[in-house]
Amino acid sequence: MSARIIDGKAEAAKLRARVAEEAAALKRDHGIVPGLAVVLVGDNPASEVYVRNKAAQTREAGMNSFEFRLPAETTEAALLALVADLNARADVHGILVQLPLPAHIAADKVLDAIAPDKDVDGFHPMNAGLLATGRAALAPCTPLGCVILAKTVHERLRGLNVVVVGRSTIVGRPAAQLFLKEDCTVTIAHSATKDLPAVCRSADILVVAVGRPLMVKGDWVKPGATVLDVGINRVEKPEGGTRLVGDVDFESAKSVAGAITPVPGGVGPMTIACLLANTLTCARMASGLAAAA
Ligand code: GUN
Repeated sequence: MSARIIDGKAEAAKLRARVAEEAAALKRDHGIVPGLAVVLVGDNPASEVYVRNKAAQTREAGMNSFEFRLPAETTEAALLALVADLNARADVHGILVQLPLPAHIAADKVLDAIAPDKDVDGFHPMNAGLLATGRAALAPCTPLGCVILAKTVHERLRGLNVVVVGRSTIVGRPAAQLFLKEDCTVTIAHSATKDLPAVCRSADILVVAVGRPLMVKGDWVKPGATVLDVGINRVEKPEGGTRLVGDVDFESAKSVAGAITPVPGGVGPMTIACLLANTLTCARMASGLAAAA
């Protein structure tokens, strides 16, 4: 038996098309064009690629993209001043400061300075708190993408056992909150978890976000389970060159799982699509409209 391969690229394209339609309606009916500001500090090559893709897909969805590329030696004060400017701009509905930031800048201080109603990453403690209390919140994009992909496999998430491996504020914790909101039974596993393979084997839906290449093996997966692999790791190929792999050993897991995301082309493409959806939500809320989308 071989798992169904979840097509994250196709799901992301569907979501982007829906967002583009709603953005066009917002412009037609209310004269509002959603605007997303993306701030990149320094020249991390992976971040460069993400930021370029974010800007291109924002424009393709009919939204305004404002990019700010600052040198690595930018001071924390200068970055905070830019965030304050963006908070005050009426044409900027969403603000994203690309992580990681250079070591001399306190990332928490910068994230805390973003207006919560423009926080398209959902990283502000106000949004994290709203999410944790089960209230309406801007939620982080990658976990939102995981829930959408899980819903392509399971008609109902209610009552399913979800194991989230990883407790980061970007993925693990908010993923747990979002699946809890769907009435799942959620376990958060992490580096101190005892007998991690056994915990993983209890999952109907296994979400892995740890940043360790190929860590989760096929025999950690319950037969028929859904596996959502958030990892994106660049590893050396034996014959030279590099390739991208997830946190899950795809080859061994796919013969056990019922459905599994590939890397690349699984969870990854959903992140930017959800970012566009969050930007649309922010623009609608700024105009006094219901969140929709
Ligand atoms: N770096 C890696 N993933 C993300 C993300 O989702 N948002 C931001 N701002 N930076 C990131």
